[in-house]
Parts: sequence; structure tokens; C-alpha cells
Amino acid sequence: MTDKSDQEEKSPESDILKKLKIRRKKQFPPREEVRKTPPKEEKKIGYSKPNADSFRMVATCMQNLEDELAKELEDIGAKDIEKQKRAVKFKGDLELMYKANIWLRTALKVLQPLFHYTAKDDKELYEKAKKIEWEDIFSQDKTFSIDSAVHSEHFTHSQFASLRIKDAIVDRFREMQLSRPNVERDQPDVRIHLHINDKNVTISLDSSGDPLFKRGYRTVQHAAPINECLAAGLILKTGWKGECDLLDPMCGTATIPIEAALIACNIPPNLNRTHFAFEGWKNYDPSLLSKVLGQAKEHFRPLKVNIYAREVNSNNIRSARVNINSANMRKSIILEQEDFFKAAPPSSSGMIIFNPPYGERLELEEGLPDFFEKIGSTLKFEYTGWTAWMIASDIESFKNIGLKATKKIPMMNGKLECQFREYELFDGKLKEEKARSTK
Ligand SMILES: C[S@@+](CC[C@H](N)C(=O)[O-])C[C@H]1O[C@@H](n2cnc3c(N)ncnc32)[C@H](O)[C@@H]1O
Repeated sequence: MTDKSDQEEKSPESDILKKLKIRRKKQFPPREEVRKTPPKEEKKIGYSKPNADSFRMVATCMQNLEDELAKELEDIGAKDIEKQKRAVKFKGDLELMYKANIWLRTALKVLQPLFHYTAKDDKELYEKAKKIEWEDIFSQDKTFSIDSAVHSEHFTHSQFASLRIKDAIVDRFREMQLSRPNVERDQPDVRIHLHINDKNVTISLDSSGDPLFKRGYRTVQHAAPINECLAAGLILKTGWKGECDLLDPMCGTATIPIEAALIACNIPPNLNRTHFAFEGWKNYDPSLLSKVLGQAKEHFRPLKVNIYAREVNSNNIRSARVNINSANMRKSIILEQEDFFKAAPPSSSGMIIFNPPYGERLELEEGLPDFFEKIGSTLKFEYTGWTAWMIASDIESFKNIGLKATKKIPMMNGKLECQFREYELFDGKLKEEKARSTK
């Protein structure tokens, strides 16, 4: 199946055909036929010109956030949404690509696949990559870089595979009588993503550049911060969108409260990001980006509940304050230096979302089992009427909580295997009522 945009593009063979015009008449089928039946192993997906109707994209995410990402894509108007492992495929136009980069809370990157093909060796990898009309995508004065993910016994060195793609791009520009664009590792204008699985090659343009969790508000780091995309994904998993008070009782640098405030106020997480990689492409349309940013502001909504960020450590409180200010959330988040085990709850009910110390990156005075036992009894005796969600990596320690989890969701936090667990902290009476109403 081909896109409309595919059909509008020149076929990969078109340059070669032009050069062999005379022979083509005799040996090749008519042009229409060539277009209708591209070689099976080689499928051009199509480079999106500024006004292309619709083209394919892939948003990548962390494990187990595919459902949330797919829902987010649906909300911004993406079409043909298809969940994959740690990614969601979709279709849309350039405006949707800009929206995706600005609005998606759980996406790490938004890629635009350009070309799929099979290659059995470096020579074929190079030759086919050279057929891509790179000069239509970015100009010779732009710098570029290539990231690669290679899982193949045919290409054992991912760096060498990247190098061949780099050669193909540079040689393509030269053959087009243009000067060669330079490679820049740290801050390239254009980022290209190479994925090889066995003999299957996919070359994509990375429209985001720096991963989308780099929202720009986290100016101060914590020893064990939670990734912004993971924080947003966890909040979305709980279903909280600002309907009741929210508390992170061990907030560190306040990532969870900041992401919660952005969700509740319907503010795109990357509204204030200063750069996206798509700005280096030839089809970059600054007025379209301004339009998308302007429209985003029309969707803001006022915060109707309280968001509490609590933390025991004074250095962390200072860092949290800096981050909350740089996210422009000073008026939306109530930051308090409090010990979870000593302070009274900030209100009578609400949602708790937190990641307590795992003991791996942060030292604890007591052992993790005792610490978790204290969390469990504090929740049980002090937070009746609340729903608590917590993410932790030590599954054994969860047992010390002493409460029955109503949900257990496997997650990854960096390289740590974790669980995100829900505890409904009803008092006995409420529990009975709930049991009766669900009968
Ligand atoms: C894993 S970190 C949270 C990181 C945070 N989500 C972020 O993104 O920065 C756990 C935090 O719990 C805090 N903490 C530990 N014991 C606490 C207690 N009794 N009361 C409040 N905070 C506590 C630690 O100081 C630490 O900042």
C-alpha cells in the first residue's frame, strides 16, 4: 500500500531513469507501471513537502506507555494509530508533526520514516541510501548526525553502518553538484535515525532532536530524578487530570507535581522548548509552528484543585523551588518542607503519586523494608479517603507496605525494573459501601 504522498513523490529509480532515458523506452516498462510496481524489498515512504496531506510518523516511548501515547495521539488528531513495542505509528501532516512535538507528554521522539529497504551488506546499505533525495530534505549548509540502532549479524558495527549512510549522503550531494554538508555530533541541524533489524533497513528523520523529556524546566538535577515522560505517563495512568487534590509527599525536584500541573492546566509540556530538529529541514514552516503554539494557548484551563509537593530534604526543596519557578508553576504548586511520616495530610482526600527512594541511588537511614513498612502504616492510618500510587523497583519491599494493591503495573525507570502500584485507602465504612455498589 502506498500513501498519496508516496505517489506524488518521484520514485527512487527516477534519477537513474532520467540518465538512461533512451534505454528506458526499450528496456523498462512505461513510467506509470514503474510507479505502480516498485520492487518489493524497496519501499519509499515519501518525504513530506510543506503541504503534503499526510505521511507516516512514529513516536517512541518508554515500555508500557504505549496506551497513554496512543490516546495522546488520538487527542491531537493523529490518524491510523497503531501501537507497537515502545512506539506508536500514526499518520498526519506537518502541522500534526509540530503538534506532536509540542503536545505529547509521553513521547521520547517523533520520527518520520523516509525509506525502508533490505540490504545484505554495507555496499547495498550505501547504494540504496544514496538514492534518497537528501538535497530535497536539507540544504548543503546544514550539519547533520546519524543515530543508529542495529540488530543484525550482517551489520555487526553500528558505527560503521552509520558511516556508510553518512558517505551516501555526502556523495549524493556531491553528485548533485552541491558542496557537502558537514557532520556535527553534538548540536547538528538535522538528525537522521538508522534502524537495522536483520536485513531490514529503515532510515528516518528525527523531528525532535533532543529527546522530548528535555522540557527545559529542570534546571537543577536530583540524585535520582524521575524522567519527565515517565512522570507524565504515570499520572495519565492513574486517570488524574486535575479533578481532585494531588500530593507528591517525596517530591525530590518536583517532577511529578510539575507534570501534574501541566496536565491539569492543559499546557503542552514542550511549549517553551527553544529548539526542535525539524527547524533544520527545508520544509520548516515557522509560521505554521507559530500557529500551533498560538492555538495551544487557547486550550489552557485554570487549575481548580491543590497540587502539593512535599519533601524532607532542604537541598531538594531548594532545587524543587527553582524547577517549579522555571516551569512557571509557582502559583499552581504548594511546596512544603515536610517529613511524610510526621506531617498531617494537606487535605481530607485526593490522589497521592510518588516515587520513594529505591535505596539504590539514595541512601536511607533504615533498610528499605522498614522504610516501606512506615510508608504503609502512614498511608493506612493517616490517609484514609485518598488513593495512593507509588512506583518502586524493589518488588520484595512492596510486601512490607502491608496494604493490598488494587493495581500492579510493570514499568521501567531507567534501567530499573519497577512496579507502579495503586492502593485505595478507604476506611472500613467506605470499603463496605464500595463493595455493595459494585455487587
Ligand atoms: C526517588 S526521590 C524522588 C525524585 C523525584 N521524583 C524527582 O523527580 O526529583 C525520593 C525523595 O524522597 C525524599 N524523602 C525520603 N524520605 C522522606 C520523608 N520521610 N519525607 C519526605 N520526603 C522524603 C528524598 O529526599 C528524595 O528526594
